[in-house]
Amino acid sequence: MPHRSKCLSAAAIGFLLAWFAEVPIAPADPPQVSSSQEPEGEVVAVNGDASPEMQGLFETAIPLLPLAMAQETWSAPEQRIAIGRGLDQLAQASATLGQHAVTRDLGFQNLSDSLAEDIERTRHHYAEGNFEESRASMVEIANTCAACHSRLPGRSDTRRPPLPGVLLANLSLHEQSQVWVATRRFDKAMAVWETALADEMRAPGQLDIEGYLLDYMTIGLRVLQEPARVRSTFAGFSQRPDMPIYLQRHLAGWAIALAAIEAEQPPADPLLRARELAGAQGVPRPDLLGREQTVYDLAASSLLLRLIDDNRASPEELSEAYYLLGVVEARSVDSYWLPQAESHLEAAIRLAPGSPSAASAYALLEEYVVVGFGGADGDALPDTAFGKLQELEALIEKSPARPTDPSTSL
Ligand code: HEC
Repeated sequence: MPHRSKCLSAAAIGFLLAWFAEVPIAPADPPQVSSSQEPEGEVVAVNGDASPEMQGLFETAIPLLPLAMAQETWSAPEQRIAIGRGLDQLAQASATLGQHAVTRDLGFQNLSDSLAEDIERTRHHYAEGNFEESRASMVEIANTCAACHSRLPGRSDTRRPPLPGVLLANLSLHEQSQVWVATRRFDKAMAVWETALADEMRAPGQLDIEGYLLDYMTIGLRVLQEPARVRSTFAGFSQRPDMPIYLQRHLAGWAIALAAIEAEQPPADPLLRARELAGAQGVPRPDLLGREQTVYDLAASSLLLRLIDDNRASPEELSEAYYLLGVVEARSVDSYWLPQAESHLEAAIRLAPGSPSAASAYALLEEYVVVGFGGADGDALPDTAFGKLQELEALIEKSPARPTDPSTSL
């Protein structure tokens, strides 16, 4: 798994702030966002009004972020009343999102809850005078925005004009791409990654370690649904003479997978297709259970997230969908913005505790959590994690007869 900082840098947040402060949303303002300003040729959406939940989050989060950039400002006595009030308003905005979230799927609700928890933690630390903790927690909030925006198909939001290029010149490419995803300028994020992959000054292995390849594939496949674009970029990238052998091999495998995904028609039964993709049935691939599966895993997760978002499947189907989502996330596509494998596996159990998917989800969750905490001894777990595992296990044990069909477990 690639590793890197989970936070937006202070500089990136400063630019976000400048953007929102100076350029309020302008729904009926297409001339400023005409496609002539989009050198990368992305077709972008300009229709519709901002959702009130998102608008509320922006208006309340944005004034707080610059204050959180500097410890002195965040802890200054003269700011206490303003910051306290700002955090109250942010909590209200997230409560509004929470009210909307009850009409959405469990994954959406979990992310909405995560946002509310981030905000509560920030407020609590602030009220207790733990300024450094509350400041770090405030900055983390942008990750939850990005995690939620990278789930479903979508188009670039061009109702707000993009940040002027001259301001972006001071940001690292990594920071730029984070800004664009958090603000749903996916077209801009893609262009940033494409520039990075073509930059001879950046070693391919380093680009991989820093997660650019996974980010690029996630937005390209799950949000923009453009496998051909990803394949063509990777074809050029793989020609670089400084390519490590391991990555050359992954790129060759991903090229086959991308061409296959590109040729696919929307499946009649998305759950069946996602099961095949996640289980690597009938798809060309050299191995199983590793990063070579990334493209198929992203394709599977995209089908599953849409099925879940649709919110019409039966509890058993949803349980399997969350289980498969947990499998692919734990294996190759876990979001660094906000890892969600655990919450998906938990959802699989709660939705249909008697199902085979719940039993498989429990086994994987137990391994993920226990091994993740550094040992096969339950004592090493924090009480809350151990308590949750016990609760889920009891839920499965007391639920009525489980169907025996093993086809749903990998
Ligand atoms: C629980 C999921 C979720 C979270 C958390 C979330 N968003 Fe969104 N956001 C969406 C979805 C889905 C859309 C697409 C349009 C819609 O359905 O409202 C969206 C749209 C947007 C838009 C563009 C369209 C609009 O309606 O204005 C912006 C800008 C935005 N979000 C910013 C943010 C920011 C900033 C945060 C974090 C403080 C955030 N979002 C947190 C799900 C989320």
